[in-house]
Amino acid sequence: MLKTTFLDYTYDNPLMNASGVHCMTGSELDELAASKAGALITKSATLAERAGNPEPRYADVPLGSINSMGLPNHGVAYYLDYALNYQENHDAPLFFSVAGTSVQENIDLLQKVQDSGFSGITELNLSCPNVPGKPQVAYDFPLTEDILTRVFSFFTKPLGVKLPPYFDMAHFDQMAAILNKFPLVYVNSINSIGNGLYIDEASDEVVIRPKGGFGGIGGEYVKPTALANVRAFYTRLKPEIKIIGTGGILTGQDAYEHLLCGATMLQVGTQLHKEGPAVFERIAGELEAIMEQKGYRTIDEFRGQLKTIN
Ligand SMILES: Cc1cc2nc3c(=O)[nH]c(=O)nc-3n(C[C@H](O)[C@H](O)[C@H](O)COP(=O)(O)O)c2cc1C
Repeated sequence: MLKTTFLDYTYDNPLMNASGVHCMTGSELDELAASKAGALITKSATLAERAGNPEPRYADVPLGSINSMGLPNHGVAYYLDYALNYQENHDAPLFFSVAGTSVQENIDLLQKVQDSGFSGITELNLSCPNVPGKPQVAYDFPLTEDILTRVFSFFTKPLGVKLPPYFDMAHFDQMAAILNKFPLVYVNSINSIGNGLYIDEASDEVVIRPKGGFGGIGGEYVKPTALANVRAFYTRLKPEIKIIGTGGILTGQDAYEHLLCGATMLQVGTQLHKEGPAVFERIAGELEAIMEQKGYRTIDEFRGQLKTIN
């Protein structure tokens, strides 16, 4: 019932982890592979291993999460090694996330993927700090176009981009016009809503150490923003560019709404962190129940069919 074709492969269901959650180590990735998740993605890799920011750098809060992880990861060689092994033993293509902290690092990372035997799908995380004092890459529109121009001069494997949320109709239009110039296979919306602040009631204190407590927000807080970004890009991008919906998926109803807005695959971050890999079986079951109740046999029957008021 939930079978989902993405590029050339049909996954059992559209659910997967969001990069950064439960995917830092080989054993966490193995747990996802053994779960009911339809697909999985690796932690965003940099060229070298990174320790990330001092702890505490993540907090579960009642309506979601706040984090300033600072991209801790084992380095691209570690994840490529995992990916090459994985594809020996699984038919389903793996998603592989990279995140350079400079333009050159992004190019170098993708060159490594290009030169490797990796046959899955690569995700370029453009929602990353670039030059200190400048906005993250995807909030710098000319820079985004520049990077994609350089990337597609040599990169020939399937590539998607992970985007931060946008909040202005003009930004949806401008970013979609740039993305439509390239042979991207998907856009993944959204990364965390940047630089929120959560305060502990009892202590008057922030809950994470880095950046004076400022951090990316995920979970229930972000669903309306995520749905708007999925919908905005679904209605603006050329049909070859699929949408991965990420942000605020806790239940089958949340998953259903992302699909209604036009998403093809769905990623779960904060709720996976809170609940562990069993979350996929629960959400899949809830989504099936909603489809049954509404009389749908396949997701294709309602994907993108959001109703508006005339
Ligand atoms: C602990 C943590 C680490 C994350 N690390 C990454 C990352 O490495 N790369 C990335 O693209 N997004 C990263 N994200 C963002 C998530 O992939 C996701 O876009 C965001 O949390 C919104 O989804 P959610 O509401 O389900 O949490 C991270 C999120 C969390 C909570």
